[in-house]
Amino acid sequence: MNPLLPYTALAGAKAMRDAADEWDERYRQGRTMPDEPAGLLVENLPLLPKGGKALDIAMGTGRNALYLASLGFRVTGIDLSTVAVEKCRKKAERLGLSVEALVADLERSPLPSNDYDLIVNFYYLQRSLAPQIVASLKPGGVLVFESFTVDQLQFGWGPKSSEHLLHPGELREMFPDLETLLYHEGTVQGDRGPKAVASLIARKRA
Ligand SMILES: C[S@@+](CC[C@H](N)C(=O)[O-])C[C@H]1O[C@@H](n2cnc3c(N)ncnc32)[C@H](O)[C@@H]1O
Repeated sequence: MNPLLPYTALAGAKAMRDAADEWDERYRQGRTMPDEPAGLLVENLPLLPKGGKALDIAMGTGRNALYLASLGFRVTGIDLSTVAVEKCRKKAERLGLSVEALVADLERSPLPSNDYDLIVNFYYLQRSLAPQIVASLKPGGVLVFESFTVDQLQFGWGPKSSEHLLHPGELREMFPDLETLLYHEGTVQGDRGPKAVASLIARKRA
């Protein structure tokens, strides 16, 4: 047996616990994303399916999951942070909306089910998920993806490691089997000032 294996597995589990603790703390302090749903979703409703099953990957407190639920989607949202998921559940209750809000580490657990009409992934970059995302979309299903690019480093906030930042053109190439409906890469105005993002809306061929 490779004596390193148990150690690396343990180290990986510890790193993930640390990450979960860090996100929990951010959510406790309210140092996170705005409450409003992402502009990319709100401004491009005509490109989305009219309803059905939606999955919000790394949903945080569920700003997009709750918005999709308000549009009539049956939404599942997943996040590593127990604090964020609990906030989403409470908000859903307050608003009279239904979201299946799950705590899971997406580095370790597969995406649930495999027949979503819509999958959204905002400001969470796990490159290894790309094939699962495609497999989990129904034929004709739509993916909405937006995350920071390396150009975000100039603004001094957001992710610091290139592991969590898209390279120029990367998002355009990440889902070659999907049909691109919208692609944009550059600096846009965010709630904290300018931010460097890549945005994609793409459809699985029927
Ligand atoms: C920048 S926030 C984005 C939240 C949300 N998508 C939004 O746009 O409001 C990134 C989220 O990824 C979650 N996250 C980080 N690592 C994760 C993992 N391994 N599995 C699931 N969620 C994770 C964090 O808890 C955090 O809520």
